[in-house]
Amino acid sequence: MTLPERLAQYHAAEGAEEYLDEYHKFHRKLSDRREHKLLDAYFAQVGGVATALDLPCGWGRYMPYLRSHGAEVLEADYSGSMLAKVAEVFPDTPLLGRMRCFGHRIPLQNRAVELVFSMRLSHHLADPVVRREHIEELFRVADRWVIFTYFDRASLKNLIRRAATALGLNKKHPKNTLSRAQVHAMAKAAGFKIHQDPMLFRVGSGHRLVFAERV
Ligand SMILES: C[S@@+](CC[C@H](N)C(=O)[O-])C[C@H]1O[C@@H](n2cnc3c(N)ncnc32)[C@H](O)[C@@H]1O
Repeated sequence: MTLPERLAQYHAAEGAEEYLDEYHKFHRKLSDRREHKLLDAYFAQVGGVATALDLPCGWGRYMPYLRSHGAEVLEADYSGSMLAKVAEVFPDTPLLGRMRCFGHRIPLQNRAVELVFSMRLSHHLADPVVRREHIEELFRVADRWVIFTYFDRASLKNLIRRAATALGLNKKHPKNTLSRAQVHAMAKAAGFKIHQDPMLFRVGSGHRLVFAERV
């Protein structure tokens, strides 16, 4: 699927609906649990937070969680349908706002919010320049904390995919990855320290969940 096709799919109302359904499936619940466990440990260190940008917010899966840590939340996504879904699923929840934008072009000032939260976007970004710009934007907009996922180039899942592709056994597109060294270098250049960046699962997932703080 090309990037415009994927974006169109997300933007479409059925895309938002499908994504919401997906989260009720078992494997999703499992990775959800692991994510929450890691996030609980991160937020134990963060404590309370005044403002958070949730980009991409999807249907608002993490918005109540961010609010439970005291944050006023700005929900942002490329997809207008996803943003509409947030209002539909959480009609009475007060928000800092809802904003339609790209993950690599965030229309906010430097250090505009205390925490930037970007779950499961990086691996959708097919263009390596855009993938890099997305991470740079997260660091630019965060006053103190950044939490995000990316797909690790050296993960077992990616290595298997690349080997299968080289042997002609795999017709799928290569994964949209970043190297861990590259992510650490970007954090450092932006004035951040990465406290933790574990894999979501060692086998079966190539995602890392990064927890970084401005130093
Ligand atoms: C896998 S979902 C993750 C949503 C949410 N963070 C979560 O974990 O439930 C990916 C989301 O990214 C949005 N998206 C895809 N490409 C985007 C882009 N370039 N900029 C901003 N949002 C994008 C989609 O509309 C979709 O809501």
